[in-house]
Amino acid sequence: MLSSARNGQVLVIGSANEDHVLTVDALPVPGATVLAGSSTLTAGGKGANQAVAAARGGADTAFVAALGADDRGARLRAALEGAGVDTRLVGRRPGAPTGLAVVTVAASGENAIVVAAGANAELDADAVEAALADATPAHLVVVQCEIPVPAVCRALEVAGRRGAFAILNLAPFVALPERALRAVGLLVVNESEARAALGERPGAAGRAVDDLAPALAARFGCAVVVTLGARGARCRTREGRDVTVPAHPVPDAVDTTGAGDAFVGFLAAALARGADLADAARTASVAAALSVQRPGAQASFPALAEVDAVLA
Ligand code: ADP
Ligand code: NA
Repeated sequence: MLSSARNGQVLVIGSANEDHVLTVDALPVPGATVLAGSSTLTAGGKGANQAVAAARGGADTAFVAALGADDRGARLRAALEGAGVDTRLVGRRPGAPTGLAVVTVAASGENAIVVAAGANAELDADAVEAALADATPAHLVVVQCEIPVPAVCRALEVAGRRGAFAILNLAPFVALPERALRAVGLLVVNESEARAALGERPGAAGRAVDDLAPALAARFGCAVVVTLGARGARCRTREGRDVTVPAHPVPDAVDTTGAGDAFVGFLAAALARGADLADAARTASVAAALSVQRPGAQASFPALAEVDAVLA
């Protein structure tokens, strides 16, 4: 399936936000003002996180995104470049602020998040098409859903047309047209996204977790990985083989922010090296497990050498 993608390049198309994380005793109720115990600025957004993870995972990685022409955008670009991500396809939208997420985290661990998409909302389908003009069968195109639906669809369609392998991380869940879905080679979802994609209603009795990947594969006609947090992941290969990948046990999960992104980025990097889906998922599982033991998202992603040391 990916024989020509050995030493392939990973092309991530998606969102970039700056996360402003505020820790509070309790989340404010409407009308209240509360003092934060700490405030930190970190680079985030699912697209940027996955691009950084793919680069840490050893892949030659380029990112397609839209930033504003502001200081926030400059900081995000620097973070990407610091991680070794090629940012030549990261465009600037001078009229829009760079994406911003305000993440309020209570002592209980509960959070409340407000996202201002800003420039991410201006990543248009034509810009995506132009960015993919040189995509080849040696490219793995990785898309998530924090950018406009037409941009997601165009990315998948152009990837398909150019023979690139398309990985869709359907996060957050959005309904996509059949035409775009036909181009997906591998679908990656967490449990709630899997259930949403299968039309299960939240709270209603649904499928057993082992039945999710086969059902998604039948529905979408592609390989599937369902991530299940501390319960690991379930894969359904293109050949119809089901593989259970246990989570790598961690003594203490301190911050699961970005665990899914670490998983997707390392998965893409391993596939780009020519690994099969089961081996790539084992690598991704270790990378994600290492990331939950450290605070933050991008800052918590391990280097490939750390992951390989665990797998050895
Ligand atoms: P998301 O963060 O997108 O909701 P998951 O919660 O399913 O995704 O986590 C993604 C992957 O991260 C899991 O499949 C697993 O490999 C790893 N992971 C997440 N939480 C833990 C944990 N507590 N212990 C070990 N691995 C974890
Ligand atoms: Na983390």
